[in-house]
Amino acid sequence: MSMAVNILFEEEIKDNKVVVDFVKSKKEAFVSTLLNDESVVIIKEPKESKQTLEDVRMLAGNIVKSLINSNVKKAKINEDILIQIYDSNEKQDVLIAFVEGWNLGTYKYITYKSEATQKKVDLEFFDENAVKAAKETGEVRASAVAFSRDLMNNTANELNPETFPEVLKEELKDTPVEINVLEKADIEKAEMNGLLAVNRGSKYEPRFVELKYVGDDSKPLVALVGKGVTFDTGGISLKSGRDLSDMRMDMGGAAAVSGAIKLLAESTAKVNVIGLLQIVENMPDSDSMLPGDVIRYKNGKTVQVGNTDAEGRLILADGLIRAEELNADYIVNIATLTGAAAVALGSETGAVMGNLEYASDMRTIGAKNGDNVWPLPLIDAYESYLDSDYADFSNISNKGEAGAITAGLFLRRFVNNPEKWLHVDMAGVMESQNKGYYAKSARGYGARLLADYTVAKSE
Ligand code: BES
Ligand code: ZN
Ligand code: ZN
Repeated sequence: MSMAVNILFEEEIKDNKVVVDFVKSKKEAFVSTLLNDESVVIIKEPKESKQTLEDVRMLAGNIVKSLINSNVKKAKINEDILIQIYDSNEKQDVLIAFVEGWNLGTYKYITYKSEATQKKVDLEFFDENAVKAAKETGEVRASAVAFSRDLMNNTANELNPETFPEVLKEELKDTPVEINVLEKADIEKAEMNGLLAVNRGSKYEPRFVELKYVGDDSKPLVALVGKGVTFDTGGISLKSGRDLSDMRMDMGGAAAVSGAIKLLAESTAKVNVIGLLQIVENMPDSDSMLPGDVIRYKNGKTVQVGNTDAEGRLILADGLIRAEELNADYIVNIATLTGAAAVALGSETGAVMGNLEYASDMRTIGAKNGDNVWPLPLIDAYESYLDSDYADFSNISNKGEAGAITAGLFLRRFVNNPEKWLHVDMAGVMESQNKGYYAKSARGYGARLLADYTVAKSE
């Protein structure tokens, strides 16, 4: 028997958590009501007048998780009441948020769980025609975020620099995205020496991937540059003292860019965007780059490798140089770059640095779409922390402070005009807990943030 429920709202019930408990406790009642007619889930009417779109996504995620637990297969909701209760000024956005939260709430990374099956609950609205566009948008957004999550959750033995581009080709094959993969010989020719240096200890070849989506070629070119370290052991400056399993997610920047390009292409956005992914593995080996080595970049700058674990900035430098070669009008790079960003801002918000006005735009965009980000200052007085005795500069700071900022200052040196540039450090937000529309796994951070920022800069 497949169970179906109607989702209703009722003032008396206090908050989302109660709703979830209510759904659980009434499991029996569902079944008995169902025998006569349809079952009922009741949602509280929020007390606070201002509920955010994130509240809507979280609510939808909580409901769908609860329904899955109760083995419900189908639910129906009155869109008019949903809109009325949540925010009458942003009707479409409320519906989109609900569908997005609903779909992502069912996300589970179960590839390696022998017993688990992927469960879904079909969502229906009273007037399907009226919500068609919003439903599609919500679905596209959720599927882009889920793709970023999948990429990040995947293990490093499966997703490595050589397989990553193949996964992208498969995922984007029905979209107009053009994929150009630079292999090792191309990377050597292009003098992407950061990639070559960092990847030296790996048994895989490095890759540089360009994902181009042109929805309108009259729009400014936005370049999205993503760190794609499929596993970060630290290299010769080996990480130690903790479980490193999460370092399979050190390609989170590349996953965010891939998700953003998928989102933009599948929503036929009128933008002109290119994703630039630097994909490597940071391993200790007799061939590895060594502390003290100097990398000479295509733009003539030389960098002393003070610590092989500060590898992200070494490869992003090649991506930024490439973005400049392409004459991008806006450049955003994104990376799981520093533990210091997580220390500064915790696990609910990423850090953004660069053009202050754009950083503020991005903060507003993230507050609306769920990918929170908060500005950090690029303080000029800290530039000298990157001084090197025998190269132009070092990849680590010679002071034990401001680690997220000095990484930002390092990257800024590879952008000709920093006014068009933003750097997002997502180290703190690469994972999520099982809450609302999030699962205990990769958060899928950045796909929505980068896509919506790209659209905003194309208006
Ligand atoms: N991938 C790490 C940063 C990171 C740490 C991301 C924890 C997510 C969770 C990065 O490559 C790294 O190792 N950074 C060093 C830089 C240091 C050596 C200057 C760090 O943050 O400790
Ligand atoms: Zn590292
Ligand atoms: Zn790293």
